[in-house]
Amino acid sequence: MGYRLYRDAAFRFFTYRVISVNAVSKFFAIRRGMLSREKLSVKALQNVSLKIAAGEIVGLVGESGSGKSTLARVIMGLYRPDQGHVMFEDRDSRTMKKRDWLSVRRDLGIVFQDPASSMNPWMTVEQIVAEPIVIRRRDLSMSKPQRRDRVVEILEATGLTADHLAKKIHEFSGGQRQRIAIARALVLKPRYMILDEPISALDVSIQAQVLNLLSDLRKQYGFAALFITHDLSVVRWFADRVAVMYLGRIVESAGADKIFSHSRHPYTKALAMSKLDLDFENRDFYALPGEIPSPIDQPPGCPFAPRCERVVAACNSAFPPQSAESTAASTYHCFNPVVP
Ligand SMILES: Nc1ncnc2c1ncn2[C@@H]1O[C@H](COP(=O)(O)OP(=O)(O)OP(=O)(O)O)[C@@H](O)[C@H]1O
Ligand code: SF4
Ligand SMILES: [Mg+2]
Repeated sequence: MGYRLYRDAAFRFFTYRVISVNAVSKFFAIRRGMLSREKLSVKALQNVSLKIAAGEIVGLVGESGSGKSTLARVIMGLYRPDQGHVMFEDRDSRTMKKRDWLSVRRDLGIVFQDPASSMNPWMTVEQIVAEPIVIRRRDLSMSKPQRRDRVVEILEATGLTADHLAKKIHEFSGGQRQRIAIARALVLKPRYMILDEPISALDVSIQAQVLNLLSDLRKQYGFAALFITHDLSVVRWFADRVAVMYLGRIVESAGADKIFSHSRHPYTKALAMSKLDLDFENRDFYALPGEIPSPIDQPPGCPFAPRCERVVAACNSAFPPQSAESTAASTYHCFNPVVP
């Protein structure tokens, strides 16, 4: 009996430690104009599937408006998908109650692009970092000294010290504020982090420091992460696997070591050809010719067709299905893929 309990616990540990997004679509209803009653539908996510395994860093890249933050918000439970669902290990978003969400969020650390926007300027650093513990005080039964010890431990791990505890957020630079935001996200030692452009609002000179910090913290705390960025060189360096989004769809995903050197989707290939350099002072962000189409009233077919050099007749008929040789780790959607 003891063995069976141990075996079942081990099975759960190794098998279910995964977040899986399953065929999720999210549409936003907007008005055609200020005075119009006519409603239009913004297709922010269409049939998106993605897995984040224990300890894995999944990079999510794509141009502005491609749906990266919407996907993050669906995973956090801030948006309810119109179609599809999210599995948190063995918990299903379609049947989860408020209490289940509270426990899932305990396992999700969240860092946004602009740390100041999510922090109360009147609170001290100690109050800000301890906030997730205070919200869950009934479940955690942590005494005040234990709480302070945890806050100091995490602050020190992010390069700050106990001397900062009583300070307010306006006394810190942008890089230090992002360290405080990371400390707050990590204070419950979550198993997953959602990092939505965590370095893009920072000065270029600070970006590498915060990125190195995230890399060290990942080794120390072993969290998995969804790392959202516009920046391919960063994702190539930091992520294990990369998913490329285009107009609300994941068009390709593969290992970070291969996706840009052996791209199959023409969009990924075009991104990979932009100048990439971890020297933050000295690089270009990708700029593809042509405009990303509107996410409203999309015509049938591949959304990349108006900008694609490899377009063939089939491309305008339907969205391309998953490639025949897809695996759990790598897939693409294209009728005329690049031959690597
Ligand atoms: N609350 C909302 N109401 C209406 N439309 C929205 C809403 N949130 C997002 N959208 C639209 O959904 C699409 C996807 O937006 P999203 O913010 O997810 O893109 P993103 O990839 O995160 O872009 P960025 O790189 O600029 O952060 C966009 O067309 C956006 O205008
Ligand atoms: S499906 Fe066609 S249009 Fe779309 S990326 Fe592939 S070749 Fe280009
Ligand atoms: Mg975004």
